[in-house]
Amino acid sequence: MNKQLIDPFGRTVEYIRLSVTDRCDLRCFYCLPGDYRDFSEPEEWLSFDEIERVIRAFTTLGVRRVRVTGGEPLVRKNLPTLVTQLSNISGLDDLSLRTNAVGLSRQATALKTAGISRINVSLDSLRPERFKDITKGNLDKVISGLMTAKQAGFSPIKINMVIMKGVNDDEVEDMIEFCIEHDFTLRFIETMPVGDTGRSATSYYLSLQDVKNRLAERYELIPGVMPGGGPARYVQVAGTSLRIGFITPISQHFCETCNRVRLAVDGTLYLCLGQEHKFEFRPLLRAGISDSDLLEAARTAITLKPERHEFLEKPQQVVRFMARTGG
Ligand code: 5AD
Ligand code: SF4
Repeated sequence: MNKQLIDPFGRTVEYIRLSVTDRCDLRCFYCLPGDYRDFSEPEEWLSFDEIERVIRAFTTLGVRRVRVTGGEPLVRKNLPTLVTQLSNISGLDDLSLRTNAVGLSRQATALKTAGISRINVSLDSLRPERFKDITKGNLDKVISGLMTAKQAGFSPIKINMVIMKGVNDDEVEDMIEFCIEHDFTLRFIETMPVGDTGRSATSYYLSLQDVKNRLAERYELIPGVMPGGGPARYVQVAGTSLRIGFITPISQHFCETCNRVRLAVDGTLYLCLGQEHKFEFRPLLRAGISDSDLLEAARTAITLKPERHEFLEKPQQVVRFMARTGG
């Protein structure tokens, strides 16, 4: 059995972002429209057993890491049960979670016990009013979720901050101090034209190259490394243990090293965040596909992976919302 999945451009795919729901308990303006109703229906959702089958197939073929994502993954009922199922898959060495942390104070311990080792928390502002303007949510819940996660022993905890000019770019330094204080890793992300909401937010686009230059005036930044398979480029703030990652899909795209694909809650595998290339697993699963045919299907899916996104050339291209694809 060939234990590597190699796409047509020679990249090894070893990472799956697994979206367990397209719903969310926040409404970040750059992600989900406030009045959005077009969520998938429960009968379209892969069951935990169906998800486990697909992930097992990919793991057999060489996938090593899974990040559970959404929408907001914690709104999927009984998530720790799924995590337990996934953590029993041999060969899967890295099971992590991306969350907005709203529900984390209730679920952190159960998720840790079930087998999540690392978490990424989306947090764009530390100011309650501004946080509410961006997300329609309550910052206190997020902060208490984060603190519970810290106590539960997740390590590292990464904060993902989408940087938007005139919205929160004046909070970069505050976020740095917050992350130093709590021993969190910080990552900055450029806005992407994903869905109508994402496109409308590109008017706030700020190149992270500018942010990095600005920070270099105030802090001594030394090249840093961080374990993980992602596209962030890290620096360390001298004299502290803080690492800051820059995720720059627009100003410096990283498609040539892309190692990931995204499984949406309805069983659609999206081969790229910025393209429509996809492969549907749900009809196969519901038609009773055999394990060996499922492996074949997984191999076929990877042959569809496109070379790169075209956010700059074709910003109108991605019609689905981020919450649908799995961020
Ligand atoms: N551009 C950049 N990041 C986005 N996210 C959602 N929409 C966008 C966008 N248009 C990120 C959020 C969150 C995750 C769901 O995806 O920061 O961390
Ligand atoms: Fe929810 Fe994340 Fe989208 Fe915000 S960015 S609405 S937290 S899925």
